[in-house]
Amino acid sequence: MPEPETTGPDTVSVRAAALSDAAAVAELLTQLGAPGVDATEAVRRLERNYEEVLLGCVADAPGGLVAVKTVLYFGHAKPVAHISALVVDGRFRRYGVARALVQAAVTWARARHCVGLELMCGLNPAREDAHRFYPAMGFQADAYRYWMPLGATGATGATGA
Ligand SMILES: CC(C)(COP(=O)(O)OP(=O)(O)OC[C@H]1O[C@@H](n2cnc3c(N)ncnc32)[C@H](O)[C@@H]1OP(=O)(O)O)[C@@H](O)C(=O)NCCC(=O)NCCS
Repeated sequence: MPEPETTGPDTVSVRAAALSDAAAVAELLTQLGAPGVDATEAVRRLERNYEEVLLGCVADAPGGLVAVKTVLYFGHAKPVAHISALVVDGRFRRYGVARALVQAAVTWARARHCVGLELMCGLNPAREDAHRFYPAMGFQADAYRYWMPLGATGATGATGA
């Protein structure tokens, strides 16, 4: 007889990440593609209180995370909420975990008088799901990111002309 279905969208809950979640956070960041983030490094990042880290749990198991912080850009009138990480465990995708995390981030941002939420999302194949997810959540692409890589020699790409 098949096991009863015990996980699904109805069982998703969101809570703040704790230091005791470090191993799960490290696993999620590894799935996101962050190299070299082990549990020790996850503890360091959770402890720095630089951003709010929320966990999306499926039947109490950590299934995804969002990291969000407020940013008041020097030339802007009001703060925005910047999402610096969003990832859902491959076992729990399309359960509504990321939707719940974004909704929680919106609530968090509103409470801090942010005028909107922003994030960057790569154009590589690993982000194909994300480029379907964000528009479905109401995000619109409205800017390009210009990026200047700095090599070991400190090259800036400037020609000196
Ligand atoms: C993008 C990501 C966070 C989405 O997480 P998720 O929990 O599976 O998303 P949800 O279940 O909350 O999806 C909500 C809605 O978004 C849309 N959506 C999400 N993934 C989708 C996909 N692969 N294809 C089409 N639509 C998708 C759907 O409208 C979905 O609603 P539905 O399932 O009722 O149709 C997840 O795929 C992920 O972790 N990807 C790898 C890491 C990554 O790219 N992170 C973003 C970095 S910028």
